Amino acid sequence: MEKIKVAVVGTGFIGPAHIEALRRLPNIEVVALCEVSEELAQQKAKLLGIPKAMLFEDMLKDKEIQSVHICTPNFLHYSQSKAVLEAGKHVVCEKPLATKIGEAEELVKLADSTGLVNAVHFNLRYYPMVRQMKTMRENGELGDIYSIMGSYLQDWLYLKTDYNWRLEPDKSGDSRAIADIGSHLLDLTEYVTGLKITEVMADFSTVHKSRLKPLKPVETYTGKMLQESDYQEVEINTEDHASVMLRFDNGNKGSATVSQVNAGRKNRLNIEIAGSKSNFEWCSEKPNELWIGKRESPNQHLMKDPSLFTPEAAGLISFPGGHNEGFPDTSKQMFKEVYAAIAEGKQPENPTFPTFADGHRELLICERIIESHKKQTWVKI
Ligand SMILES: NC(=O)c1ccc[n+]([C@@H]2O[C@H](COP(=O)([O-])OP(=O)(O)OC[C@H]3O[C@@H](n4cnc5c(N)ncnc54)[C@H](O)[C@@H]3O)[C@@H](O)[C@H]2O)c1
Repeated sequence: MEKIKVAVVGTGFIGPAHIEALRRLPNIEVVALCEVSEELAQQKAKLLGIPKAMLFEDMLKDKEIQSVHICTPNFLHYSQSKAVLEAGKHVVCEKPLATKIGEAEELVKLADSTGLVNAVHFNLRYYPMVRQMKTMRENGELGDIYSIMGSYLQDWLYLKTDYNWRLEPDKSGDSRAIADIGSHLLDLTEYVTGLKITEVMADFSTVHKSRLKPLKPVETYTGKMLQESDYQEVEINTEDHASVMLRFDNGNKGSATVSQVNAGRKNRLNIEIAGSKSNFEWCSEKPNELWIGKRESPNQHLMKDPSLFTPEAAGLISFPGGHNEGFPDTSKQMFKEVYAAIAEGKQPENPTFPTFADGHRELLICERIIESHKKQTWVKI
């Protein structure tokens, strides 16, 4: 079998997760990685067992590479995705697709004009239980949607000494918690319910108005392991916490709360969707379980089991019931769908995976949320 040759750009936290997921698929070979310097690229290539260590610009010229994963800080997503498409290669970009809506619009148009496969790594869609909720809703088991209450809580920026490039708007964009984790929650909300958010009313808070920035680089989630060393006090002007009221196109309402300063919440997306026939509650920290609330019969507790799932959701499961699958499996399942398209050589007409258009949609909602917070008023999407 001729394998599809892939390069991964950025190998901090999520880049290696892409590499691992790609290696679990039979028709793919990760042949190159790119880093910020040749020295770091060499080091990472050795550590991860990748044959070619390159700078981004050199990788673009490498004819062997057919597909590129962008796993760098947010401000590089636009320029790197654009350069990859212009080099005639397929692209899987991390979220958010860009830091400005105009950039995302341009990427959607460019991707469409090339016909190349384009995807945004909204991998949380690929928890089998998320697909199960979506298909149960499509089959009418939820009924009319009355309300949606979502939250995404983390604690890795809890302390004033916690620091990362995401705290710097020139690298992360004008929003932090909403752009970083709210983007997953809002994408999932629309994906599962099939509803569109039509208006938002947001209120942000920056709990740590200044933080202590370490004087040496820190990779994501590794700040906890630092010793008390030299820090520099810097002003923070993006949100640690955001509350957003949501209006949907079926006339009903909901809310989303995101926070990166909730002690003990490691990476917890929780969503409760109340319908006229039942109520679904799902939490990403217990991804193989779904609570189904009932009024006129006992509540149910569904565990992940392909024999009990809809065919669409069972298609995302690699192991029998009781054998837990989790975060690393979501990327594997997503890349299966993306690489089926890449094997065909072009973006499908109706992709099953999240595309640049979905990345653009998320950025649009995010920009309206920022606008709403600034104006302290409802803003239409
Ligand atoms: N889908 C998810 O669940 C998920 C999870 C984590 C992060 N992310 C996204 O992934 C992206 C990266 O996040 P992270 O947490 O891995 O960050 P990170 O800081 O841990 O890693 C970023 C890497 O990019 C490298 N880099 C920086 N500039 C570069 C350049 N010009 N060329 C090549 N490499 C360069 C850095 O050296 C570093 O290794 C972010 O956009 C983030 O939103 C998504």
